[in-house]
Amino acid sequence: MMAEKINSFYDKMSATYDKWMESGESTLEDELSLVLKTFPNPCRILDVGCGTGRISLPLQELGYTIVGVDISQGMINQARSKGLAESYVSDFASFQYDQNSFDGVISLHAGFSYTQDNRIMERMIQKCHGLLVHEGIVLWDSPNSQFYGRERKLEWPTDNGTVETICYGHDIKELIELFEKSGFEIQNVWGSYTPLKEHEEGLPRLIIDAKKHSEK
Ligand SMILES: C[S@@+](CC[C@H](N)C(=O)[O-])C[C@H]1O[C@@H](n2cnc3c(N)ncnc32)[C@H](O)[C@@H]1O
Repeated sequence: MMAEKINSFYDKMSATYDKWMESGESTLEDELSLVLKTFPNPCRILDVGCGTGRISLPLQELGYTIVGVDISQGMINQARSKGLAESYVSDFASFQYDQNSFDGVISLHAGFSYTQDNRIMERMIQKCHGLLVHEGIVLWDSPNSQFYGRERKLEWPTDNGTVETICYGHDIKELIELFEKSGFEIQNVWGSYTPLKEHEEGLPRLIIDAKKHSEK
């Protein structure tokens, strides 16, 4: 999907986003608990598609060093106003930062949901690889196509009417192949946060926990 479309969708819903996520399929508490289980504290984490800082801010408060990046200025404005210390407005595809500078990369509820082009996904995974230290970990979450289908219309009510976008589901085998091809070793694939469950066909998410194991 065109970057401007994602941008415009999230700009419009940035003020009401946190409230709507409260009624989602998982709880913030369970999402945070998976991050805590995956990464030692303290460590340095890049949050890709950090949005309003819904996940980043509690992690920062818990002692992690968090850098947020998001394509939407509106979402980043919310995160900054709530106190996220370091953040950037950028499409992750063109994000520039020092190589080998993060112990972890997370992307919850964002992942590659806005593209179904495996070449773009591969470039994003390779970007994570370059930004991570050796044995750094990525925790990356996509909608499961076996649950949501390949394409789904998202409709979000805002204070100024409903906004909509298209979100893409992904295939477990293709995703694992892309991570392995890019120098990652898969450690876990989770299928839901609430409750935390290993991947199964009928579960909504593909939450990949993978370790950087080789230089490309
Ligand atoms: C559903 S929100 C998730 C926000 C946050 N991770 C959370 O769990 O609350 C998806 C976010 O990903 C951002 N996003 C989508 N595509 C992106 C891209 N290519 N680069 C950077 N951010 C992106 C959107 O602007 C939006 O803020």
